[in-house]
Order: sequence, then structure tokens, then C-alpha cells
Amino acid sequence: METKISEIADGIYRLSTYVPDIVPPAGFTFNQFLVLGDEPLMFHTGLRKMFALNHEALSRIISPAQLRWIAFGHFEADECGAMNEWLAAAPQATPAQGQTCCMVSLSDFSDREPRQLKDGEVVELGGGKRVRFIDTPHTPHGWDAGVLYEESTGTLMCGDLFTQLGNDRALTEGDIVGPAVMAEDIFKYSCLNPAMGTTIRSLAGLAPRTLALMHGPSFTGDGAAALRDLADDYDRRISEATH
Ligand SMILES: [Fe+2]
Ligand SMILES: [Fe+2]
Repeated sequence: METKISEIADGIYRLSTYVPDIVPPAGFTFNQFLVLGDEPLMFHTGLRKMFALNHEALSRIISPAQLRWIAFGHFEADECGAMNEWLAAAPQATPAQGQTCCMVSLSDFSDREPRQLKDGEVVELGGGKRVRFIDTPHTPHGWDAGVLYEESTGTLMCGDLFTQLGNDRALTEGDIVGPAVMAEDIFKYSCLNPAMGTTIRSLAGLAPRTLALMHGPSFTGDGAAALRDLADDYDRRISEATH
């Protein structure tokens, strides 16, 4: 396995590891994102067992000791399993996550006390970069779920939303909704809930120019339209499940 690096927006890097053994022959990608600034932030730690791979990859961009913030979408192994390995490698880094995750899991799990982010709270990274944490409870799964929006580039780091199989290019202008619908059919990974469509549609209000998928390519284009289409598909699923 190797971890490939691509700059998907100005100062935002995608570290992508393709695992062909997951749902072969298509395989599956795990992506982390590095947002540069005076205080660099990484979104997702990657799996604990992939730490060495990801640490080497990040080292090609900055010294891991320069990391100041480590955030993620929700409490699962691929999102935050290597948190304590990263904290050991980055003595100045602070975990940053929503209040629910800190209360339920992270304050206990993390070797360093996390910064608890309220819904909508901004972390100033300096160098023109600022990220806003947005609660998306149970969407696509996890009570503690949230996304991170980098405002200067219009980049929404949307975690498991739009999960797809395969190993597409790093940045695409193509359809990301169809592949996400297919992956949902296969994995059934989302916690279908009545608020889901509304939660996803509210992210469209940000009008993101880039959608940074944890499992799939990054998308550049009309992010709002993609989010609305995804919300419509979940509304359809929920309606079919309850009628
Ligand atoms: Fe997840
Ligand atoms: Fe994930």
C-alpha cells in the first residue's frame, strides 16, 4: 500500500491510501486532509494500523511535529484510531471535535484534552485559513457526527458523506452522487433518520466549491447541487422505509 498526496484546493492536501482488498475488485480509499496555515490542521487520523504509512506521507509535506490541530468526522477507527500516535508525534497538537464526541468518547480516549467545538464554532488557523465545525448528528452515522468547512477555499471536508468504492482520480468534476447511492445500497452505512435530508440540505447553504470525501475522490464544482441530490436520495430511502 502507498499513500498518494494531491493538493485539492489552495493549501489543502489529500493523503489517500487505496486498499484493494476491501470490496474487491473495486477496492476502497481512506483519505485524510491537511489544511496548511500558521497552525496546520489534519482532518482524520487514519487507522491506527496505517499510522506509519500516513506519518511518512504527511512528512513529505510538513514535519508532523508542526501539526497544531487534529479533527475528524466521528468516533470510529478510520476517523480517529491513530489519534494518540499522532499526539505523540505532534507535541503541540490538540484534538478538536464537537461537544458530543468529546463528552461521549474523546475526552476519555485521547491522551491530550480535546478542544470542544460548539456547532458552528470557527478555529482560526492563520495564513487566511479558518475552519468551521458543523454538527450533523447521525448523518451519515454517529451521534457525534460533524463536518468541517474551510471558508477561504470553500472546501467542505464531509467525512463519510458521499462514500464510494474504487480509486478514482484525486479531484473530479464528475458525478459523485450516483456512486454514493450505489455504495449506500451495498454498505447500508447510514443511520437513516427523519432529519437526514434536512441536515444534508442545510450544508448546501454553504455553497461549497470543493467536497473532500473521506472515501472517494474530491469533487470540484457545484457542491450545493450534489448535496441537494444526495439529500433527495436519503429522503427517498427514508420514505420507502416508513411507508
Ligand atoms: Fe464512519
Ligand atoms: Fe470513514
